Amino acid sequence: MNNIPENFVWGVSTSSYQIEGSVETDGRGKTIWDTFCENPKNIIDQSSGAVACDHYQRYPEDILLIKDLGAKAYRFSTAWSRVQPEGFGKVNKAGIDFYKRLVDSLLENNIEPWLCLNHWDLPQGLENLGGWRSRDTAFRFAEYAEIIGKNLGDLVPNFITHNEPNVVALLGHGWGWHAPGMQSADAVMAVTHHLNLAHGLAVSRLRNTVPEAKLGTVITMQPVIDWENDPDGSARLDALSNRAFTDPALLGTYPDLISEEISDFVQEDDLRTIHQPLDFFGLNHYTTVRARSSQDTALGVKIIQPPLEIPQTVKGWEINPEMLYQQLLELKNRYGNLPIYITENGCAAPDKLDSAGRVSDPDRVAYFRDYLLAASRAIKGGVNLKGYFAWSLMDNFEWADGYTQRFGIVYVDFPTQKRIPKDSFYFLKKIFQNKT
Ligand code: FCB
Repeated sequence: MNNIPENFVWGVSTSSYQIEGSVETDGRGKTIWDTFCENPKNIIDQSSGAVACDHYQRYPEDILLIKDLGAKAYRFSTAWSRVQPEGFGKVNKAGIDFYKRLVDSLLENNIEPWLCLNHWDLPQGLENLGGWRSRDTAFRFAEYAEIIGKNLGDLVPNFITHNEPNVVALLGHGWGWHAPGMQSADAVMAVTHHLNLAHGLAVSRLRNTVPEAKLGTVITMQPVIDWENDPDGSARLDALSNRAFTDPALLGTYPDLISEEISDFVQEDDLRTIHQPLDFFGLNHYTTVRARSSQDTALGVKIIQPPLEIPQTVKGWEINPEMLYQQLLELKNRYGNLPIYITENGCAAPDKLDSAGRVSDPDRVAYFRDYLLAASRAIKGGVNLKGYFAWSLMDNFEWADGYTQRFGIVYVDFPTQKRIPKDSFYFLKKIFQNKT
């Protein structure tokens, strides 16, 4: 790891709905994920984030784990419905106070807060009015960003607008695997544009409210391999997933392949509003994907599983660190040398607590080692990579997979809520503390 600069930011990431629990505490409003989990068909183990890691109560213990890991930074998300239970109107002081306590405690422990405003848990009150399909939601998001800026801006140096808006659009509205569970190409276009607009509006509000803060967005980019000689399918998936958010935010344009489809939702000046100067780009990267054109999905394209002979995780995600290297170089070449942070990278593994009370996760250790080596090569290749956040601090509610996929570097025994650092925690600790 010898190309990593001195002031590199090492951190860990989590998100509100996946860890907090306490869904009815202190005036929190319902979100689309609470609703989605009510239908037993939506979540593989019929679970929900109602308790999750009970982080709302146990955050002091979790912050001590981050400190022990030697991480300089912690990326978390605020739940919009704790701050504004309906997503508009009334502000809930108790919700803001929770995030103030969290941030204070991070700062006391010398951990830099990285606050993300939207990690998918849209207030149900807004969904009832059309959710991200409605243009109004973008303006409500800007108001929420301003509330957070006003209340936490003096303590938080880094703000992120969205986490993976491309997943909200495609998985939530195209393939229907995530909340709110829709399958409509039209909805995907509306949601894509309104999330982009929300980003631009929120950035300009935050620039006024917290002029000193560093602002960015987080997009998941998984390179598409044209595996089945289906260049149209691959190009469509690439445009919808990898370009539909990066191009408008960083270049001020939509990719040609979707510009006509999305044009119904784009009003004059919108692209200028969306294309705001940013201080950093957050890249979430896990795998590579393979596309297949298919008329039985609303989007006309679907993702297919890698063949069994290809190295992959228990979740079926291909392990291919070379593609992270390629992805970073491509970002540099296409979008200029904006500072990049890898804001999520990690893998699910078949973790078991052994009789000695230890969790050995050699697959995850190997994954981190190989992906970090690829990142370090990219730095050598001139990529302006400034930091790396592992996903995730601890096992948590993995969306439609419920609790069946563990991504943590800390094992959570859910019945007792006991936290047990895995071998990968100690592996990263050495790297974070510059001891390898
Ligand atoms: C990302 C999400 C994160 C987590 C990981 C495994 O797409 O941002 O919440 O689910 O995948």
